[in-house]
Amino acid sequence: MTETIRFLMCSPDHYDVDYVINPWMEGNIHKSSQEKARQQWQQLYHVLKDRALVDLVPPEKGWPDMVFTANAGLVLEKIVVLSRFLHKERQGEEPYFKQWFEDNGFTVHELPKDLPFEGAGDALLDREGRWLWAGYGFRTELDSHPLIAKWLDIEVLSLRLIDERFYHLDTCFCPLSGGYLLYYPDAFDAYSNRLIELKIPEEKRIIVEEADAVNFACNAVNIGQVIVMNKISDDLQYKLVSKGFEVVQTPLTEFLKAGGAAKCLTLRTTEPLIPDHHANVTIESRILQLEGHLLDAGIMNKALDVVVGNGGSFKVLNFTLGIERQSTSSAEVRVSAPSHEVMEEIMVQLIDLGAAARPQEICDVNTAVVAQDGVAPDDFYVSTIYPTEVRVSCEWVRVENQRMDAAIVVTESPEGKTAKCTLLRDLKAGDRVMVGVEGIRTIRQAESREQRNSTQEFTFMGAGVSSERRVELTVEQIAWEMRKIRDQGGKVAVTAGPVVIHTGGAQHLSRLIRDGYVHALLGGNAIAVHDMEQAIMGTSLGVDMQKGIPVRGGHRHHLKIINLIRRHGSIAKAVSAGVLTKGVMYECVKNNVPFSLAGSIRDDGPLPDTEMDLIKAQEEYSRLIQGADMILMLSSMLHSIGVGNMTPAGVKMVCVDINPAVVTKLSDRGSVESVGIVTDVGLFLSLLTQQLDKLTRPLVETV
Ligand code: ARG
Repeated sequence: MTETIRFLMCSPDHYDVDYVINPWMEGNIHKSSQEKARQQWQQLYHVLKDRALVDLVPPEKGWPDMVFTANAGLVLEKIVVLSRFLHKERQGEEPYFKQWFEDNGFTVHELPKDLPFEGAGDALLDREGRWLWAGYGFRTELDSHPLIAKWLDIEVLSLRLIDERFYHLDTCFCPLSGGYLLYYPDAFDAYSNRLIELKIPEEKRIIVEEADAVNFACNAVNIGQVIVMNKISDDLQYKLVSKGFEVVQTPLTEFLKAGGAAKCLTLRTTEPLIPDHHANVTIESRILQLEGHLLDAGIMNKALDVVVGNGGSFKVLNFTLGIERQSTSSAEVRVSAPSHEVMEEIMVQLIDLGAAARPQEICDVNTAVVAQDGVAPDDFYVSTIYPTEVRVSCEWVRVENQRMDAAIVVTESPEGKTAKCTLLRDLKAGDRVMVGVEGIRTIRQAESREQRNSTQEFTFMGAGVSSERRVELTVEQIAWEMRKIRDQGGKVAVTAGPVVIHTGGAQHLSRLIRDGYVHALLGGNAIAVHDMEQAIMGTSLGVDMQKGIPVRGGHRHHLKIINLIRRHGSIAKAVSAGVLTKGVMYECVKNNVPFSLAGSIRDDGPLPDTEMDLIKAQEEYSRLIQGADMILMLSSMLHSIGVGNMTPAGVKMVCVDINPAVVTKLSDRGSVESVGIVTDVGLFLSLLTQQLDKLTRPLVETV
C-alpha cells in the first residue's frame, strides 16, 4: 500500500534563518550551516523515498522557509486549501505553492485575505480519516475552520495552542496509524485537552515529555507503522516501539533553528477521503453589539481580550467612532468559539462589559422553571452589580433589586413584565428563572477618561507604593463627597471592623456619626464590644489606648463589657441607663443611626444586639444599605465583601485597609465608582475628620 503515498518536499537551496517569526528563530539568524542543512535534508529525503514517493517543488530565492512544505496548504483527495500566512515574511510563498497544486491537478481553495491559516502545519487528519484536527491561537485564525470544514466536507475539531514555542499544531501533536496520538498536552488549553481526551481513549494517547517536545518529537512523519523523526529519548523510543511502531531517527538540528523538523519539511499529498465523515463544525458564532466610550474607556480592548483570552476568535463587522469627546462609539462584532461551552463563558464576560446580542435576534429569553424551593435550574444566569435588562416578549425589561450573585426571576402578567434579582434561598418552585446568556444586557455607565483615573490610582496603590500625598488627595475627594451627600439629604453607610477601634479611630468615627455624616453602621460583634470596652474601660482588646501598652488582666476586659451589656439587655438600654456615655455605639444610639451587628463563629458572648442568624443578618444589612449613595468600608474584609455583593453598581464604595490584598479584592469590582486606599484606618479617619472640619470652618466662622 505504501507506494501510493506521496510527499511534497522543497530542497533547502535557499534555506536560512533570515528573520524571527517564532521563538526558535530568536538568536539563530544566519546560525544554521548551509552544508549541514543540505545533508540533513538529503537524509530525510532518502528515508522517505525508501518508503513513499516524493515530489519536489522548486525552491525560490528570497523565501527561505519554503523548505517547510507542510505550510503549503492542506490536502484532502484532490482538493487543497491554500495557506494564508500570518507573517508577511512567508506570504510570498503562496503563489509558488498555488502554482504547484494547480499544475498537479488539485482544486485550489483560497481563504479570504486577512484570515490566516497555515496549512498542514495547523491541520492534521486523523489517520483513520475520522476527522480533521485543526489548531489555532498563533498562526491560524479560528474563523478559518468552518470554511475548511465546508470545502473539505469533513468534521473539524478545533484545538487551541497556548505555548508560543508550539506555534503550529504539528509541533506538538501527531496523529498516528491505529488511532494513536503522539502529543504534548501542555501546549493546549484545558478545553482542548478535554476534547482530545474525549476523542482518543487513554491507551491510545502517547504523551511526550517536555524534553522530547522541545526537540520536536511530535513533528514526526508517520507512514504506516513507521515514524520518521528527529532524535528522541530512549524512553519515548521505547514507548513507541512497545505500541508496535518502527522508529527512524534522523538528525534535523539545522531546521530546528527555524522552528521546524521532519513533519514541517514534508506535505503528504495523498490523503484519501473516507466516506461517511461529513462536515460537522462545533464552532459557534454570534453577532454582538457594543456601545459606549469603547476606545476612551478601553472597553473595546477588554472585550476583544475576553474573546481571545478564552479561546474564541472575532471579526469586527463595523465600528462607528464617536467623533466628539462626549459622543459614544458603537461596534458590531462577530464572536466565534470552538464550542458552546466556551461561547457561554465568553458571553458571560462580554455581557458584563455591556455587550448584547442583536436585539432583533432574540425575542424571548431562555427561562427554566424552578422545580424545588431554594434551588435554581442548572445553567441559571448569575447576576452582577451592573444595571441589567432582559428580553421578555421582544422587549427589554429592567431588572429590579440589582445585586450580584443572584438569579433573575421573570414574570409576565396582564399588568406587565417584571424581572427581579432573587437569592437562591428565596426561589420558589414554579418561578421562571433566566438561564444561559441569550437576551441579557448590562448597561454600563459611560465611563469617561476622568473617572478611569480612580482605577489607575488604585492599581498604583495596590502595588504597595502608595504615597502619603496621594492618600491625602483621595481623602479630600471623599470628604467633599460626604459633605455633599449630607447636605443633600443622601445616605452614607459604614462597614467597620474592630481594627477601627484598635487603631484609635473610635473618636473620629464617633465624630462622623455625631455630625450627621453616617446613616447606617454595619459590623460584627467585635467592633461593638471593643468600642464599648474602650469607652468604659479605656482599653481595646486589653490594650491601654492612651499608653498603647497591654493592661494587666486586660484580656478579660471585653468579656466584662459583654457581660455588662447582657445584664442591661441591649446597647440602647445601657445608654439610657447611663452606663455607656461615649464611643461609636453610643453615638449611633443617641443619633438614631441604625446599626446591624452580624455574628460569626468566633464571637464571644455575643452581645444581645448581635444577630447570630446569618440569613437574618444578611437581610438586615441589605435593608440598611438600601438607597445608599456611598459605602465606607473600614478594615473589615468579610462584612465589606458581604455588603459589596448586595450593592448595585453606581454606589460609591471607599475601601480602606492596611492590607493591599483586601483593598484589591474589594475595589476591583470592575466598576469605576470604587476607590481603594491602602493605609492605617485610624489615620484615614483622622485625616477625614480634619478635612471635613476644613470644609466646614468658613461656614462656622460666618455664623
Ligand atoms: N520558520 C517557519 C515558520 O515559523 C517554520 C515553519 C515550521 N513548519 C511547521 N509546519 N511547523 O513559519
